[in-house]
Amino acid sequence: MIFSKKNEKNAGSEGKEAMMPQANAIELLKKDHRTVSALFKQFEETEEDDEKVALAQQICTELSIHAEAEEKIFYPAAREALDEESEDLVDEAAVEHRSLKMLIAEIDGSSPDDQLFDANVKVLKEYVEHHVKEEEQEMFPKLKGSKMDLDAVGAQLAEMKEDIKAKMGEPKTPRAGAKPTVHVPALKGKSQASSKSTSSKASTGSTASSASAASGAKKSGSARSSSNGTRSASRSHSAH
Ligand SMILES: [Fe+2]
Repeated sequence: MIFSKKNEKNAGSEGKEAMMPQANAIELLKKDHRTVSALFKQFEETEEDDEKVALAQQICTELSIHAEAEEKIFYPAAREALDEESEDLVDEAAVEHRSLKMLIAEIDGSSPDDQLFDANVKVLKEYVEHHVKEEEQEMFPKLKGSKMDLDAVGAQLAEMKEDIKAKMGEPKTPRAGAKPTVHVPALKGKSQASSKSTSSKASTGSTASSASAASGAKKSGSARSSSNGTRSASRSHSAH
């Protein structure tokens, strides 16, 4: 768990304040990035199908939660804090999230027996690396010098993430003997933090709702062609 660490000062207190993270918004999002990066590394290093499925499921779940929290909390606050020119960075990030969600939808429901399974995870990794690089090298430095209240937004992000996790469906338990298949738990309904918002343009340091839920992505099934076990790592596209 990334955000379960209690603030030392609040360790004895009750309620949500006791769960306040020490990380500000940028530190918190960077931790998410490192977590997913480590999971991708583990995926690359294993040959075990069960482990690949478990890791792909964890990667997709972490990314879905991360994207939802960024879209509901971080990006609206970033739009408010950045000048018009720098807002393009937020637009690009939102478009990149859309590509990530399409790939996550492809991976959801698939298994290592599917020809494009490894390729889908590999391309997802490349998309994420590109997205992380842009956020960490371009957007975050601009926000550090902006009017964004990084501590307040960090607290809201942590609360939103906990809320999303609490409302997430449980992964399906595979039938005995069934082939291992990725199941990304659905993000259910509106999260508590987003319902507090009254505007799609958040005031700095406030919550906002602006983006569609990551759970809305539907599977196209186009990349799910079952094969005789041969895995083609050919890619139809690259990260950029
Ligand atoms: Fe992101």
